[in-house]
Amino acid sequence: MSSGRSAQFQIPWSQSEPVVPHPGGDPFNSIGLDWLRTKRGIKWRRFGPEVIPAWLADMDFPPAQRVTEAIQELLDGADLGYPGWVHGTPLRAAFAERMAQRFGWVLDPAQVRETNEVVQGTLLALLHGTSDGDVVAIHTPTYPPFLKHIPTLGRALLPIPMSDERDGWTVDLARLDHDLAASRCRALVLVNPHNPTGRVMTAEELDALAHLARRHDLLVISDEIHSDLIYPPHQHIPFASLPGMAERTVTLNSASKGFNLAGVRCAIAHVGPPRLREVWDNAPPTLYGSPNIFGVAATLAAWQHGEAWLSAVVAHLDRQRHLLVDFSPGTCRAPATIWSRQATSPGSTSGALNSALTRPPPCWPAPRWPCSPEWPSPSTAAGKATRG
Ligand SMILES: Cc1ncc(COP(=O)(O)O)c(C=O)c1O
Repeated sequence: MSSGRSAQFQIPWSQSEPVVPHPGGDPFNSIGLDWLRTKRGIKWRRFGPEVIPAWLADMDFPPAQRVTEAIQELLDGADLGYPGWVHGTPLRAAFAERMAQRFGWVLDPAQVRETNEVVQGTLLALLHGTSDGDVVAIHTPTYPPFLKHIPTLGRALLPIPMSDERDGWTVDLARLDHDLAASRCRALVLVNPHNPTGRVMTAEELDALAHLARRHDLLVISDEIHSDLIYPPHQHIPFASLPGMAERTVTLNSASKGFNLAGVRCAIAHVGPPRLREVWDNAPPTLYGSPNIFGVAATLAAWQHGEAWLSAVVAHLDRQRHLLVDFSPGTCRAPATIWSRQATSPGSTSGALNSALTRPPPCWPAPRWPCSPEWPSPSTAAGKATRG
């Protein structure tokens, strides 16, 4: 830890691994507002001191000790030149191992590629796997950059409206089946666990989507970036692990959410479809940007040595979400994963966030496929955290 920071704030779990119980109780409760206000990231910089920002999926906790050690080791070795990754980074094998251990998904590391960001990987998969004017389905509401960037690639959005029912957010599958056929949809961008509803899709829901993917011959791009942050009894199921789905699925993941490492800009893509992998590999690699050594070192340390830290974070978040539910009984349900619009603090930007998330998506080319009418209104979509 740098001396500047330790003068203000001693990270309670930085001295030993695995995480030790803090004498005062939960170590993650020891984060001070003074220290948070010194942070230079966009979350704490965008608004003034009157706001406690909770508008961005950056956690406020310092990273696991093994992650900071891995970065420090690179600096200590003064070896910051071009990396020697001839056949890809060690993340390929580490990702395969982690998926097998956590979810029983056995994949070939040779099919894994590095990207800097999950959104970048999503757009690359669409760029290489679909054509100008193709229709791309996505659950709505959704993470706003998808609504902004997919149309700029020349793909039209087909919204899959989610409705907030008593037991969680659901989709009308018969209608989806009809819409996929009517629009001649080519691809599905699946965000699971889902942002912003917090829903973790069940095996039945994923099976139903797999059935539709097969029936309509869809390329599936599965953003699983939030899969580390799930509360029991909910379980993450990688879409590509379903029978026959790996060959039509690109899976995106990253340590950035679970381990709070968004700034190191490192993500991976498991590119299942062989033809798409060929196109992906034939593009000049510099077009994508190479992975950087700090991002790879941090991600590797998180995936290989960060389990104790991650379990402690999830346990802490679980307690916090129940506090939130207890605080407003009857109006709030606990999401199955961390991300939820409800998790905004009083005096924060929740109003702006809610309206951004519930704004109708842009369709391209203009009225080619009518997405606006299906968009949930702010009154139904906003202000309710959900159970998965
Ligand atoms: C569902 C989802 N996908 C992607 C991202 C962004 O990931 P990246 O910065 O790696 O593009 C976020 C960030 O909150 C997200 O919630």
